Amino acid sequence: MNTNWFVMGIACFFSVASCNQNNVGSTQAPPAVSSPASSTLTVPARVTDKNILQQGKNIFTKNCSQCHGNNAEGSQEWRKPGADGKYPPPPLNGTAHAWHHPTDVLMEIIKDGTLPDGNMPSWEGKLSDNEIMAVIFWLQSLWTDEIFKTWQGIDLSSREE
Ligand code: HEC
Repeated sequence: MNTNWFVMGIACFFSVASCNQNNVGSTQAPPAVSSPASSTLTVPARVTDKNILQQGKNIFTKNCSQCHGNNAEGSQEWRKPGADGKYPPPPLNGTAHAWHHPTDVLMEIIKDGTLPDGNMPSWEGKLSDNEIMAVIFWLQSLWTDEIFKTWQGIDLSSREE
């Protein structure tokens, strides 16, 4: 079935990327980038490859956890703007609304950041597309099956338009 093809596509995509770097995570050489999740109309499956998820978690711990929390639990007060009028970092673990966004929108938020209206810095040029995808896959591994299923529908319809 198509899903299997897609999962294999992702696995190959990442293993090619990591084979080119002897040390996954420590080399910053930008791999050839294509967005596997948006290049097909197949519903994206959960990524369960332990190496990819661990890489995503490591990148998150290094770059994102100081704001979004060690386990992406975010700030409890994420719905209310803080004293500076800007929103606190929301949870990304499936309890807020990160899962309302299809892959390309998540990618865009992470690359662009929200400065100066918000407090999130831009990651463009600091993290490669592969690294950002690994973080997104790790975050998604924290989502319940129900949330992930809903997200799959949102992601799919965003690519049909
Ligand atoms: C300096 C603090 C800070 C850091 C570091 C940070 N963020 Fe954020 N992030 C925020 C804030 C604040 C928001 C809320 C949006 C806004 O600014 O209004 C946010 C929003 C987001 C959203 C949108 C969530 C939604 O529900 O729409 C995503 C996705 C996200 N961040 C991912 C990341 C990732 C991945 C990293 C690390 C590569 C990261 N952030 C690092 C502060 C941060």
